[in-house]
Amino acid sequence: MERTFVFLKPNAVRRGLIGEIIKRFEQRGIKIIALKMMWLTEEQAERLYEMHKGKSFYEELVEFVTSGPVVAMILEAPRVIEMVRHIIGNTDPLKAEAGTVRGEFALTITKNLIHASDSKENFERESRIFFEDTEKVDYYLDVQDDI
Ligand code: PPS
Repeated sequence: MERTFVFLKPNAVRRGLIGEIIKRFEQRGIKIIALKMMWLTEEQAERLYEMHKGKSFYEELVEFVTSGPVVAMILEAPRVIEMVRHIIGNTDPLKAEAGTVRGEFALTITKNLIHASDSKENFERESRIFFEDTEKVDYYLDVQDDI
């Protein structure tokens, strides 16, 4: 089993897309290990995007992700890092395939609705910014026997 970290950006929350997006993970049999709504501090956003510091879009990105509440989650399934990135589509909505979250609902690369870890290392780093170990819950998910 593998885990990944995902958060729905403020425009996904403002547009009422929380259920629509989480539904896509649940119907694939992906297990939710942790889930919460929160307002990111500037410091958390800067830690999350530290690798982009100095790039032309960095300040706009930090301002955007702190502009309203986000929904953060840890997800678990076999090969879930790749699976979730497949479900959400390319970072640039213009390149995102039809049927993906960004391919259906996003317009611009900054306001691309959702973030997902791209590696095991980034899952560890990013999930620590958002969650304490005590917030992770393990349980038996029936559907994973049949998917
Ligand atoms: S890159 O191009 O390799 O740095 O892109 P990537 O690592 O996939 O993620 C870039 C994140 O920054 C956000 N962002 C932008 N990227 C590229 N160009 C512009 N103009 C831009 N504006 C914002 C983009 O939404 C990615 O956010 P996350 O949360 O990682 O998906």
